Amino acid sequence: MSAAQEQIRRLTVADVARMHADGERIAMLTAYDFPTAQILDEAGIPLLLVGDSLAQVMLGYDSTVRVSLDEMLHHTRAVARGTKRALVIGDMPFLTYSDPKTALTSAGRFMRDGAQAVKIEGGQRSARIVEALNRAGVPVMGHIGWTPQSQGTLGGKVKVQGKTRSNARQLLSDAFALQEAGAFSIVLELVPEQLAAAITERLSIPTIGIGAGAGCSGQVQVITDLLGLGDFKPRHARAYADLRGTIRAAAEAWAKDVAAGTFPGPAESVQMSDEVLAEALGRSPLDRADDSAQLTSIPLDRDL
Ligand code: KIV
Repeated sequence: MSAAQEQIRRLTVADVARMHADGERIAMLTAYDFPTAQILDEAGIPLLLVGDSLAQVMLGYDSTVRVSLDEMLHHTRAVARGTKRALVIGDMPFLTYSDPKTALTSAGRFMRDGAQAVKIEGGQRSARIVEALNRAGVPVMGHIGWTPQSQGTLGGKVKVQGKTRSNARQLLSDAFALQEAGAFSIVLELVPEQLAAAITERLSIPTIGIGAGAGCSGQVQVITDLLGLGDFKPRHARAYADLRGTIRAAAEAWAKDVAAGTFPGPAESVQMSDEVLAEALGRSPLDRADDSAQLTSIPLDRDL
């Protein structure tokens, strides 16, 4: 094993705390499958979230609340297998952490299947769950602001949170409740930039923003938004590639080559020895005399 390979080790929440203490801006991306996780790990992305956005962006459901724990675990295992260094965070899906006992069971499954931490939504209302998980040795990332699993109670439409005095105060209390309960970090989703920066300044743990401005300790993006793979781009996302266009163009070009008979070509085909083929097809003089039962049902050249 080379020295470089030997140095690769899985990041922990202590590394996240150190990065934050060093003033390093923390990058987190969502990942849902083995090859993407491998590439993101090779690219040095320190935090990979197996987000419950899996529901919409990979599985085609209309809401995050549709995705099951088993589906989340299936993808968490793939991401864990694809990574050597990244801290893999499993997003606990809807109603899998409604009380401490249920949360411990669900989190235990994530940790056994390869996650190093879990994420749960909610501020003050989730603090006792964070505490119970933390006490049991499960590192927890909080998530406040727009929390997609509460779509039913927040109102169906995706909306920036914390714009009024009382909502802003509530978000501040939520952030502190999560920190006190032992969360190692908090996602701030769709929060006005100034409020997100003010929350970040007041906390000792890092905030990871999505649609929450540049004043957070780190940023998270949904990988399909970053890669231009989805059929919809949220306002807060920036696409760094157009994979949807690239995949479509590649599929169209390949189908054109198939239609034209130019795929596969020599580079994609294998050859065998002409002599062996001649023997197999009964082209040799010896074969002409061979009427063994084995050959009677196979159409050889002489039968054509
Ligand atoms: O599920 C998800 O992708 C998330 C991120 C948006 C933070 O929760």
